[in-house]
Amino acid sequence: MIKKLAASAVVALALSTGGALAAEGESYIEDFAFSFEGPFGKYDQEQLRRGLKVYTEVCSACHGLKYVPLRTLADPGGPNYTEDEVRAYAAENFTIYDEELEDDRPRIPADFFPAVSGEGMGPDLSLMAKARAGFHGPAGTGLNQLFRGQGGAEYIASFLLGFNGEEEEVAGSILYGNTAFEGGWVSMPPQLEDGLIDYDDGHANTARDMAKDVSAFLMWTAEPKMMGRKQTGFVAVLLLVLLTSLLYLTNKKLWAPHKGKQLDL
Ligand code: HEC
Repeated sequence: MIKKLAASAVVALALSTGGALAAEGESYIEDFAFSFEGPFGKYDQEQLRRGLKVYTEVCSACHGLKYVPLRTLADPGGPNYTEDEVRAYAAENFTIYDEELEDDRPRIPADFFPAVSGEGMGPDLSLMAKARAGFHGPAGTGLNQLFRGQGGAEYIASFLLGFNGEEEEVAGSILYGNTAFEGGWVSMPPQLEDGLIDYDDGHANTARDMAKDVSAFLMWTAEPKMMGRKQTGFVAVLLLVLLTSLLYLTNKKLWAPHKGKQLDL
């Protein structure tokens, strides 16, 4: 009887905390499969190019990428543009105020992406994929990140797709319901809809594709050297395995006479 009561109390407690979390608008992050995940993951060059296009045509109206030099678009492992393509891209899309000319001029590969600020503008996105985590817990331990990664790109994609159509006016500004954003209400209006952008490579262009592509691109801006880091890490682990086996054999050899063994090493 007592056991039964205790069990139902536990169930009731679990239900009530679950309810409370949902009521507070606990954010929902989908676990997208990105090409750069896992120990041997790589950026997908075509996807980065598509993501750059989404950023340029949609997000750059309100978000800067002020820490990213335009010339890195030509880096291997990134969108891998040719020098000419970078020059054309920079000149076509962005201008900068030149103090010597005392006028605006088109940007060149040696410039950075623009910084964007002002009323209604959003935060700089250069490092956003590292600043946000898609996965936490359980219970504050962060174990989920160990198995699923930090999930910055997953967060951004879920955020872009998380608008639920609700709107609310608070102190004169409009907030939009979003299932990924902490607190559930965000001042950024929904951006992506199916077919908004035509990709040069003919890839499907649903809102979901665009969200994934721009998130992959923002992962690259935040960590352009990720592939190099993974390779270095792998070589380091190989060397450590080799060192460990050599030390093991040395240890065996040194102790063999004291253990009365005759080893042929
Ligand atoms: C009309 C302007 C506008 C456009 C266009 C826009 N954003 Fe935003 N964005 C904002 C504003 C404003 C915020 C700040 C929202 C807040 O904190 O309430 C924001 C916030 C964000 C955030 C941060 C969310 C967080 O967790 O703090 C991300 C990520 C983001 N935008 C990504 C994008 C991407 C990717 C695009 C292009 C597909 C885009 N935005 C297009 C205005 C815009």
